[in-house]
Amino acid sequence: MAEIGKNLQIASELLNQGEVIAIPTETVYGLAGNALHADTVKKIYQIKGRPENNPLIIHLPDFDQFEKYVRNIPQNALRLAEKFWPGPMTLLLEKTALIPDQTTASLPRVAVRIPNHPLTLSLLNMLDYPLAAPSANPYGYISPTSAVQVKEQLGDKIRYILDGGPCQKGIESTIIGFDGEIPVIYRKGFITPSDVETVCSEVKIHENRDQEIITSGMSLSHYAPKTPVFLTKHIENFQDHFPVEHTGILAFTTCHPLVPREFQRILSPSGDLAEAAKNLYLAMYELDTMKLDRIVAEFLPDVGIGMAINDRLTRAANQIIS
Ligand code: TXA
Ligand code: MG
Repeated sequence: MAEIGKNLQIASELLNQGEVIAIPTETVYGLAGNALHADTVKKIYQIKGRPENNPLIIHLPDFDQFEKYVRNIPQNALRLAEKFWPGPMTLLLEKTALIPDQTTASLPRVAVRIPNHPLTLSLLNMLDYPLAAPSANPYGYISPTSAVQVKEQLGDKIRYILDGGPCQKGIESTIIGFDGEIPVIYRKGFITPSDVETVCSEVKIHENRDQEIITSGMSLSHYAPKTPVFLTKHIENFQDHFPVEHTGILAFTTCHPLVPREFQRILSPSGDLAEAAKNLYLAMYELDTMKLDRIVAEFLPDVGIGMAINDRLTRAANQIIS
């Protein structure tokens, strides 16, 4: 069973031996290993149960070694990096030969990020390779935002979980690729389209098409609890669709008067979208452990970070109800 601790020495030694451990970031916990080592990368896929055609993000401590791993960097990528790193943003850039095909699932681009977490930045500074890390959940399930959540999901498959406390942002990074110089958002996140527009004059949003999976966060039925999730704009009327008994509520600001309090999670009583993002996955996870028949979740205002939260809720949902 995995040990939870804050010991960077243990963490770096295990990584140097080619092991996979869990690390904290400001978004969600990651399942990390040497990104330059094909066998370690294979272990990450195995532990996560993730199809090998679904590439990983590499994590670096700073810009120093950047050009060893990526090339032909658009000017706008540099501008975004300057503004938002370290932080919850991942850039898709052309890889160099140092990055093995296993890490990018043979794609020509590699996903790169400088995370903003002091413990993980210290760890990355101790290593002479980047860390490949997908979110530390079994494939398709809810991403973990605490060390205990990682232990409950993958504790029997790894030896060490570096404990960085609860994740401050709570949803996965915004993924941005480039069409020439134009940034294209592939996965919504904490860095919003209008944040990108403060740096680049134009931004495109890559809309999901059926069958096409460019990033796993784009596949439907992702980030999903095992309990069926129904998503609605009118949570106050959910009892028109379902019995009140055995229903869990995931609401933005307000409790439902008919449902016992213990079966409800309120994401932000004051209506703060950043706080809602931070609480989202733990709330989903807790409701999922209650053996309820269904979870009814509420759409959040579709602005700013609300767009990223609604994206995750939509992927978690089995059905949208009126
Ligand atoms: O916040 C985050 O991004 C977290 C923390 C741990 O950094 N990581 C994370 O990783 O969410 P993961 O693997 O769960 O999601 C990364 C997404 C996947 O949907 C993957 O398909 C996409 O990034 N991706 C990675 N490399 C790519 C590439 N070369 N081209 C297109 N998509 C890529
Ligand atoms: Mg993930």
